Amino acid sequence: MTDSPSKRGAASRKAAPVNHGGGTGAPRLGVLLVGMGAISTTLVAGVAAVRQGLARPYGALTQLALMPPPDGARGAQVPLAEYLRLTKLDDIVFGGWDINPGTAYDLAAASGVLEPQLLQAVRPALDAVQPMPGIHDPRYLRRTEGKRVKAETNKFEQAAALRADIRDFKKRHNLAQIVVMWCGSTEVFLPVGPAHQSVRIFETAMRENEPTIAPSMIYAYAALQEGCSFVNATPTLTVDLPVMKELAEKNGCPISGKDLKTGQTLLKTILAPGIRQRMLGLAGWFSTNILGNGDGATLDDPAAFRSKEESKLSALGHILQPELYPELYGKLSHVVKINYYPPRGDNKESWDNIDIVGWLGYPMQIKVNFLCRDSILAAPLLLDLALLSAAAQRGGESGVLEWLGFYFKSPQTLQGKPEHDLAVQYNRLQEAFRALAPKLEKAPAKASGARTVRV
Ligand SMILES: NC(=O)c1ccc[n+]([C@@H]2O[C@H](COP(=O)([O-])OP(=O)(O)OC[C@H]3O[C@@H](n4cnc5c(N)ncnc54)[C@H](O)[C@@H]3O)[C@@H](O)[C@H]2O)c1
Repeated sequence: MTDSPSKRGAASRKAAPVNHGGGTGAPRLGVLLVGMGAISTTLVAGVAAVRQGLARPYGALTQLALMPPPDGARGAQVPLAEYLRLTKLDDIVFGGWDINPGTAYDLAAASGVLEPQLLQAVRPALDAVQPMPGIHDPRYLRRTEGKRVKAETNKFEQAAALRADIRDFKKRHNLAQIVVMWCGSTEVFLPVGPAHQSVRIFETAMRENEPTIAPSMIYAYAALQEGCSFVNATPTLTVDLPVMKELAEKNGCPISGKDLKTGQTLLKTILAPGIRQRMLGLAGWFSTNILGNGDGATLDDPAAFRSKEESKLSALGHILQPELYPELYGKLSHVVKINYYPPRGDNKESWDNIDIVGWLGYPMQIKVNFLCRDSILAAPLLLDLALLSAAAQRGGESGVLEWLGFYFKSPQTLQGKPEHDLAVQYNRLQEAFRALAPKLEKAPAKASGARTVRV
């Protein structure tokens, strides 16, 4: 009989230290999750399981990675958590919003990711998170009925109500810093528009209930006005707008996105650089998926899928550089499909058929079949993003954290095109850690979060 994942984790508990803390000097951190569905509740439950010694945090650099000494230097490898003085798991307080009723435990059970036995074991931690009423606009999420929503209907007033939630949460839990993470359902595709160009225009537009302002943008605005870091785990624009970049810089808040790089795109950005480095041609890359979780149901709406498609398609063009190698990649046919298939729940399966072209133009095929678990892949990325964003803010960094591109399918940049090659992204991450560490030594143990600007 095979052991359950949590039992296996318990057996190997002594394998490596986990950042329960011990002298990192980092302040207590609030993590507010917008949308308490599969990925959010898998994060909250997972952190509780690790804290309780029931399972191991595989996939999280902040818990397991060691920092090598600088090039050419001698010395021992140091846990990343210590190197960057990251907040310990025991010092994270979770909260959030959801437009669906139920406790975090109910929402975790409904998402069906974790075994009932593990969920029961961490139930007190989930029960401690009472999701707050959210804001909903059926134009952006067409297949969900908002059942737990705020009374405010004007967008500016909705932002004010969310800001009050953030201030209350901070005060109630005596927190020094807060990271807000947009983990809500994928909103319908929307391009950057005139209302998103500056804080002044955006605020006027919110007061006028401008239709091109999506709920996720209102959460982002509220978070940045309250001095919080903001992470966009989804493909929607949210914080990838001139207004948010302006606010983030002004209020000292790190921002990052879009769309966690978890399954198929992760493999794509590992494989494609190798194909290009070997100067093999590529005639086509056909990617398809089946998944049956809430995300799959949302993406069954073509307008929501368009947001996902944009973020999933962008990687290959950048990595292959068809403008430099038109003969090898100029005619690439790249197709991405997502099929909602309820029997699979959160256990997504993806297939990639890669038509490569070798010596003398002879065609060959590579087949990749990844049987993954969507939220199990996503949760450690959320944990890393929360802890690293908070550390960056304590180190005085603000605006778009391009070095977090390692974690995203469609990395947000200050300007210009993003890097997609995972190996290049990883090197940039390491460089950023080296640059951040000395700033954290000087940072006060009680970080204020940031300057809060009232409107
Ligand atoms: N699972 C993955 O591997 C993965 C990877 C990359 C990105 N994502 C993205 O993360 C997001 C969440 O994925 P999931 O699997 O947890 O989905 P989910 O459907 O299980 O959860 C989404 C939750 O968000 C809530 N919600 C929607 N709009 C809201 C609003 N305006 N305010 C508050 N709550 C709101 C829903 O009620 C739901 O509980 C999706 O956008 C998905 O595309 C997921």
